[in-house]
Amino acid sequence: MVSKGQKKMSFLRRVKTKAAIPYNAMMMVGVRVFIAKYLPRQKLKTADLTGKLAIVTGSNVGLGKATAQHLAEMGATVYMVCRNLEKAEAAKQDILKAVPTASLHVIQLDTSTLENCRKFCEDWAANGGKTIDMLFHNAGIGCPPDLDNPFGPDGFEHMYMTNFLSNFVLTHGLERFFAPDASVVMTSSPGVYVADFSRDFAKQSTKDFMEPGYHYAKAAHPKPAYSVVYSSGKQMQLIFAKNLMTKWKAEGKGYVAHAYNPGFADSDFFSKEGVKTAKRKDDPIWWLLTTLKSPMPPSEGCKTGVMLSIDKSKKVTDKAGRFWDRMKWRSSPVDLYNDDFLGRMWDRWCLDTGIEWSMHPQESTTVSKASVDESVTEKN
Ligand SMILES: NC(=O)c1ccc[n+]([C@@H]2O[C@H](COP(=O)([O-])OP(=O)(O)OC[C@H]3O[C@@H](n4cnc5c(N)ncnc54)[C@H](OP(=O)(O)O)[C@@H]3O)[C@@H](O)[C@H]2O)c1
Repeated sequence: MVSKGQKKMSFLRRVKTKAAIPYNAMMMVGVRVFIAKYLPRQKLKTADLTGKLAIVTGSNVGLGKATAQHLAEMGATVYMVCRNLEKAEAAKQDILKAVPTASLHVIQLDTSTLENCRKFCEDWAANGGKTIDMLFHNAGIGCPPDLDNPFGPDGFEHMYMTNFLSNFVLTHGLERFFAPDASVVMTSSPGVYVADFSRDFAKQSTKDFMEPGYHYAKAAHPKPAYSVVYSSGKQMQLIFAKNLMTKWKAEGKGYVAHAYNPGFADSDFFSKEGVKTAKRKDDPIWWLLTTLKSPMPPSEGCKTGVMLSIDKSKKVTDKAGRFWDRMKWRSSPVDLYNDDFLGRMWDRWCLDTGIEWSMHPQESTTVSKASVDESVTEKN
């Protein structure tokens, strides 16, 4: 069945999309990482962002810091939302050296628990609930901080919580402060082409457990590499962007959600234990990226994300919810998912976060409730 806001893909477009997916995968996963440093510089148009407010998570280093700097240069007030206040203050001073007029604020947030993310939203409200024009979900890790324990404080696989579920909780909690044309931008990755979900993953919340076909591709069972687990969360960001667009279009809201690929960018990401120590046979993706010496600077990698947040032309907004790379939208496996699967994902995120948030406005909260009931039945 075709839900509101989504047209059925024509046969021809489906064939074209199917052909484009392996091509894009090869270019992004197989070719561009080798030559990232040598790729032509992308032209980032500037905009006058005076009076606009941006939140950027994980903005004390790497892509997040570079994003904050681009936005500050254009006049935006930027909230640097980071887990380590000392590092964030140092990053703020760095940006101020380059952009003395920058309006920067630092707020602490560790995205590895649901409670931290919820509290962030409550505090935002308590502190006046300023209008948000741009929300960047950028904080991310490529392996759990404790390599002996894949699960975070809430019992969720660490990368799933830190890199993805936090996006869900923060978007839900902050939506009421969005400007009418607000942009939500998620730093995704070519992992979008690596992830592979089974169509029948559990409709129940699983803690202290990683589910093959959901947390990682079933084919990787029983020892999924960190890069494979990471990729699932990165594809979820894209599915989330697509689902948000379905929801917001149906609600007549003017917000846009995008997921983008920054390309292979030089950052601390690759110097974390577990990523930098990856062995070729255990985790060929992390091994390859840490072995290659060809990343581009983060200020280049983040350009597509910055462009998506400031370009309100129809060329960009009409393609919200698609996967963006080097300033263009690209076909991805998510284009082929049907409504049932997309809704199933949404319901699972509601269950995992405990949030009642309907993807289809007319259904109110009954979707997630129905799923809870069903999961209980499945379990018995
Ligand atoms: N670099 C690439 O080639 C590449 C490619 C594709 C996608 N990405 C994505 O780009 C995003 C930014 O990564 P990056 O390359 O710029 O790496 P990075 O330099 O390591 O930056 C990651 C940021 O996320 C923060 N972070 C990590 N765990 C957090 C937590 N629990 N709570 C709050 N903040 C947390 C880090 O804070 P600390 O400094 O305190 O650790 C840091 O600010 C990530 O989502 C990553 O998956 C990167």
